Amino acid sequence: MSLARASSLSAQTSARAHTGRKNRTQNYPSRSDRSVTRITPRGSLARALAADGIDVREYFSPSKINLFLRITARRPDGFHELASLFHVVDLGDGMKFAKSSSETKDTLICSDASIPTDESNLVIKALNLFRKKTGIEQYFWVELDKRVPHGAGLGGGSGNAATTLFAANELCGNPASEAELLEWSGEIGSDISVFFSNGAAYCTGRGEIVDNVEPPLDLGTKMLLVKPPMGCSTPAVFKALDLDSRSTADPLELLKRIGSDGCSEAVCINDLEAPAFKVLPELAELKAELTEATKDKGTVVFMSGSGSTIVIIGDDDVPAFVAADETLFKAPTRLITRKSGEWYAPTLERK
Ligand code: C5P
Repeated sequence: MSLARASSLSAQTSARAHTGRKNRTQNYPSRSDRSVTRITPRGSLARALAADGIDVREYFSPSKINLFLRITARRPDGFHELASLFHVVDLGDGMKFAKSSSETKDTLICSDASIPTDESNLVIKALNLFRKKTGIEQYFWVELDKRVPHGAGLGGGSGNAATTLFAANELCGNPASEAELLEWSGEIGSDISVFFSNGAAYCTGRGEIVDNVEPPLDLGTKMLLVKPPMGCSTPAVFKALDLDSRSTADPLELLKRIGSDGCSEAVCINDLEAPAFKVLPELAELKAELTEATKDKGTVVFMSGSGSTIVIIGDDDVPAFVAADETLFKAPTRLITRKSGEWYAPTLERK
């Protein structure tokens, strides 16, 4: 972690960490502890808890895009060193949290039945990490309304993990500083730490070394995300990466140029595009079609993370061929930021 960034984050958050905000949260009996079983249809758990006077807190769980992504080295441990300008965006999931009185398990309910809700879910990993690091034996009810597609290069699951750490900490009266949450988050994934930035971050290492930067673009800049039904497996994309055919651009130079001149084809480089296109050849075709369909609008089109989402910067009208294809995921989005001590909120209204 960069010392300058770490100390500035600590300074921003330590006051809040020690204010000892009064914790109004009541404990909710775990399902197995309850003498009366109530059947709660999915999606209404939080309403039922709130009706019982339980403190249910709602959080927006954002996603991210990579405005550029350079892979700088392959490490002996199999991971890759990267240098990337990440930005948090307002496409996100809904999450609700309440304390549980269970002494043995968390309960995660997800709107998407294809997502595992066991220990393999990053939400549960984040809660286990929170308990391990703070020593607080508190279990939680979590309801996750999934909107961000997975295998998308948008860090949706990582956003859920970061939101979970932030929410669990708030529900427990902020025992940890944000700097600590950021530091701990690197233990369960590479893309979680960025969500503890202010929203715009230059990330290095595996992605867990986070330096806040000024947002490089106007937050009102129109953007459209388009994703084919097939996702990309991050390990498969990294495996297909040919280090000899990477860009040679200096990432710090890219950071400077994007700040002064905005997005362009020359700056929005993603070293994982070529391997992702090898893994999923249809993706190269989709990028070419999106570039062609939006070129008169002065857009810049590139892949986010390890794919398979293609980002269009500069316009959020859905091209006719995209609108006509029901298999494509499409979502207008905007860059978002947050103030220290607060969590993210969406900009655009969505149904
Ligand atoms: O950390 P995360 O779970 O997102 O990583 C998934 C996989 O992606 C890793 O197991 C590794 O194969 C690859 N990866 C990598 N270098 C990174 C991040 C991820 O090789 N910086």
